[in-house]
Amino acid sequence: MHENSVKTFLVTGGSGFIGQHLVNKLVSNGHHVIVVDNHLTSVPGASSSSVRLIEKNISDLDIDDLPPLDGIYHLASIAAPRLFREHPMMVIHPNVHGTELMTKLAELNDCRLVYTSSSETYGSAGDSTFLQSMKETHPALHILLSDKSPYSSAKVLGEEIIRAAFEGGVDACAIRLFNVYGSNMDPTLQGRGRVIPNFQNALMNGHSIPIEGDGSQSRTFTWIEDAIDALIEIMKFENQLPVVMNLGSEETVTILELANMMAKILDVKPEFEYSNRLSGDPDWRRPDCSLLRNTIGWAPNTSIEIGLQKLLQVNEEINT
Ligand SMILES: NC(=O)c1ccc[n+]([C@@H]2O[C@H](COP(=O)([O-])OP(=O)(O)OC[C@H]3O[C@@H](n4cnc5c(N)ncnc54)[C@H](O)[C@@H]3O)[C@@H](O)[C@H]2O)c1
Repeated sequence: MHENSVKTFLVTGGSGFIGQHLVNKLVSNGHHVIVVDNHLTSVPGASSSSVRLIEKNISDLDIDDLPPLDGIYHLASIAAPRLFREHPMMVIHPNVHGTELMTKLAELNDCRLVYTSSSETYGSAGDSTFLQSMKETHPALHILLSDKSPYSSAKVLGEEIIRAAFEGGVDACAIRLFNVYGSNMDPTLQGRGRVIPNFQNALMNGHSIPIEGDGSQSRTFTWIEDAIDALIEIMKFENQLPVVMNLGSEETVTILELANMMAKILDVKPEFEYSNRLSGDPDWRRPDCSLLRNTIGWAPNTSIEIGLQKLLQVNEEINT
């Protein structure tokens, strides 16, 4: 296929946070996109002649009713931790049955399938005193039947399905995303979504910042545009991809540092409200992205400070 030819991509979960940014990028690159989304945690994106929206649960998708595809991004899943225990079957279904269906579709079209797995596959990842980086081979430490296990188990199974398809000759790859953030996250969840929109929601509405535990747990955060660039390059890569790769920033911050950074950018004196952490929540998480770097030559170039400034300043402009 010629590098610049117009292609057709399927994006499941294409109305969600990452999905909408990805769809916009694919369209601005001149491609056609078919979005499958049931809008469980999102609202439909702006309509465009290059985008066909199929408003459906991925399990109900008739794969024989689709035009020929050049690539599939499988993103459909609940992704906000507070929802994992509330809707376990809705977490498990798209990652297990949905992933299996997508492998069949990739085989049918002889095209690449990129599945968004998660850093949650590493589970608790051990004591924070041994803070290090996680390579793809890092052993996982899972607390079974925890608040987070419906999601982490579903993503582990999703990866196994990708691996089985890969070994059967399908061009399939699982990408373990580590906290991606940016505009348009969790628009329907009102502070019950992911950490950055929750903090943003609290700070902009004069509420205390909700901290789970004492806030000393550390994470890395990847600016959305950096993540989208990587997802585009992964799809374009001409040789065989490894079956699984980490994708994330390697810059670590604690949750309390994150809250203080956001408050400082918004010029708000922060107040904190502490609650229990979800069971199965890891003390630390930091990817080693050398495999991705060496494969597609990608590295994120937006620091957390710059990314937060971009995010919060854009939102301030919208609100004034
Ligand atoms: N954003 C992150 O930091 C992050 C980190 C790790 C993994 N991921 C993974 O990346 C993918 C996208 O995440 P996101 O941040 O855009 O989440 P999101 O919640 O914003 O988007 C997910 C989309 O999937 C849709 N969806 C859910 N179940 C569906 C189903 N059964 N059928 C059809 N559509 C369904 C939702 O309505 C939503 O539009 C998810 O698979 C998530 O697990 C994201």
